[in-house]
Amino acid sequence: MSEPRKINIFGVTGSIGQSTADVILAHKERFDVQVVTAHSNVSKLAELARLMKATHAIIADKSKFDALKSELSGSGIQVGAGRSALLEHAEVPADISMMAIVGMAGLEPMMRAMNGSKAIAIANKEPLVAAGPIVIARAKECGVQLLPVDSEHNAIFQVFDQNNRAAISRLILTASGGPFWEWPKEKIELATRQEALAHPNWVMGAKISIDSATMMNKALEIIEAHYLFDMPADKIDVIIHPQSLVHSMVEYNDGSVLSQMGASDMRTPIANIISYPERLTTSGKRLNFKTISSLTFFDRDDVRFPAIPLAYESLNSGLYHSITMNAANEIAVEGFLNGKMGFGEIINCIRYALDSITKQNISTLDDVIMLDKHVRITTRNYIDTSLTNRTVSII
Ligand SMILES: NC(=O)c1ccc[n+]([C@@H]2O[C@H](COP(=O)([O-])OP(=O)(O)OC[C@H]3O[C@@H](n4cnc5c(N)ncnc54)[C@H](OP(=O)(O)O)[C@@H]3O)[C@@H](O)[C@H]2O)c1
Repeated sequence: MSEPRKINIFGVTGSIGQSTADVILAHKERFDVQVVTAHSNVSKLAELARLMKATHAIIADKSKFDALKSELSGSGIQVGAGRSALLEHAEVPADISMMAIVGMAGLEPMMRAMNGSKAIAIANKEPLVAAGPIVIARAKECGVQLLPVDSEHNAIFQVFDQNNRAAISRLILTASGGPFWEWPKEKIELATRQEALAHPNWVMGAKISIDSATMMNKALEIIEAHYLFDMPADKIDVIIHPQSLVHSMVEYNDGSVLSQMGASDMRTPIANIISYPERLTTSGKRLNFKTISSLTFFDRDDVRFPAIPLAYESLNSGLYHSITMNAANEIAVEGFLNGKMGFGEIINCIRYALDSITKQNISTLDDVIMLDKHVRITTRNYIDTSLTNRTVSII
């Protein structure tokens, strides 16, 4: 058996982080867990750090240092707190780092992890959306492998013939359609928080659940696929597949279409990536083809779900566009989740930000961070000045 693989997990307390912990705990002999991090969930971080016998537990919220220290006293696990501790520990050498922080907060940890890790498991898609060319260039410079965890990209990764790229004609991303696939436009716009969080097939963190309901998640994934597989926008399609069993497909020039299938369980792509190129034996749910009554596929609907065309607009416009779309979306989702605005306003906020920001050249990480900050302020102002006092339905 090979040596245990050294792994760091950023965002261990979230949905992807906990699924990663599940896989690791079922294969303790295969992994040597070092750094685990969270934002503010002290008790979950301490519990997972102890269970996985991590060497370091880092909490990004500085004010939680004493609480974490006390939870982990006597464990021998080293404790750190604050954004700078998170960034420092991102560089701890590892065979693989799982990036499972949500949103742009994961960009700098991802960049810093490339200084110490041989491979980066990418669940956290927003950094690729906002800084794709910079992330890819840095990975090449450091000789770091970028491995996709997102179920669609992991599916493509599994059937993408790297040695025969020229024979690939198209990537086809599948999308469940989210909770509102069968709803009329007027009803979608008035959806409540609870309705938007109730994804039909997957249990996920709040932000990605809302992104799935608006289908912004698919827009982010188109951009993610563009950078991870170096495919032009016109060779990336989306098809609605409500059962979420075909996780995505690669079409070849000879007409062959290869897909990866599996139950809707993130532990499958996580296991695939953290053991890559080996395969772990997992105990997760298996597909039973005798009980699958139908696999259906539908064209996307850009009238009811106007987020998807924004991805193509971004890829044709330049990085400033995807930074703006991504940052405005994060702020709009936060505004919706906090009850400041209605579901239908999310797309309006993004459109407002895109219309407010002038085209600009983005070439460095600092450029990305500066524009991201500016868009967040612009979008927050828009929400506070134009959208408050509107009637919104929460819960
Ligand atoms: N969930 C899925 O099935 C799924 C599938 C594919 C891709 N993804 C992607 O994976 C990423 C994580 O998604 P998720 O659903 O696992 O999110 P989640 O459940 O909300 O977890 C987010 C994690 O990030 C930490 N975090 C939040 N803000 C932070 C900050 N400012 N600094 C440091 N850490 C911070 C959280 O810590 P606390 O718990 O302490 O707040 C938590 O550990 C997202 O980019 C998502 O798009 C998720």
